[in-house]
Amino acid sequence: MEQQLSDKEKEKRIAALEAVKFVQPGSIVGLGTGSSAYYAIQQIAELVRQGLQIEAVATSENTASLAESLGIPLLGFDEVHSIDITIDGADEFTSDLKLIKGGGGALFREKIVASMTKQEIIIADSSKLVDQLGAFTVPMEVVPLAVNHVMKEVKLLHGSPVLRKKSGHLYITDNGNYIIDADFGLIEDPESLSAALNNIEGLLVHGIFLDLAAKVIMGDGDWVVYF
Ligand code: A5P
Repeated sequence: MEQQLSDKEKEKRIAALEAVKFVQPGSIVGLGTGSSAYYAIQQIAELVRQGLQIEAVATSENTASLAESLGIPLLGFDEVHSIDITIDGADEFTSDLKLIKGGGGALFREKIVASMTKQEIIIADSSKLVDQLGAFTVPMEVVPLAVNHVMKEVKLLHGSPVLRKKSGHLYITDNGNYIIDADFGLIEDPESLSAALNNIEGLLVHGIFLDLAAKVIMGDGDWVVYF
């Protein structure tokens, strides 16, 4: 398997394997969404097969299906009050642990899970490290009837919003909402932008994650680097 992986996939995988070492027996584990989280879920499933006792919460329907198919015991959101550790990916991160997430469309549940988590570990390949957030557009989950309003408000914040489509159709999230991806250019002040976006009615959640990650583990060639 290792031989068939591209360098980027290898970096994702070694970061994921490193992060899974932090999973303790008896804990509640948040399972992220995306291609990096995939490797962590596979490794957790392997440990479960070997006898590790954990229960997990999934950040998307895709992740729930994968976890279920691999035999990882799942809990619903209504069954947990706190999550011990979550391993999730990111689209961009800075060395001071600011993130953009939601490229995979799962940001709403990812942010709830991150907020409920004692130790959020982000895993990434080395292409995700940036000096300043903003090369990746900021995803936001929007209630369908508020799309025009949110678009207008995002433009007032000097963003260029685009309604996400997939295979020619509007992208629908696991929660039945739309995604707007907004280009703000390089983001000078993520805290101010995050606060301004939080104030837009109808915008459920945006992909700027601040003060949520405990650490980022990045694959870098054959090594991992901790942030
Ligand atoms: C899913 O909604 C995202 O937040 C992912 O965590 C993020 O897009 C990273 O995905 P990859 O690990 O596939 O790059």
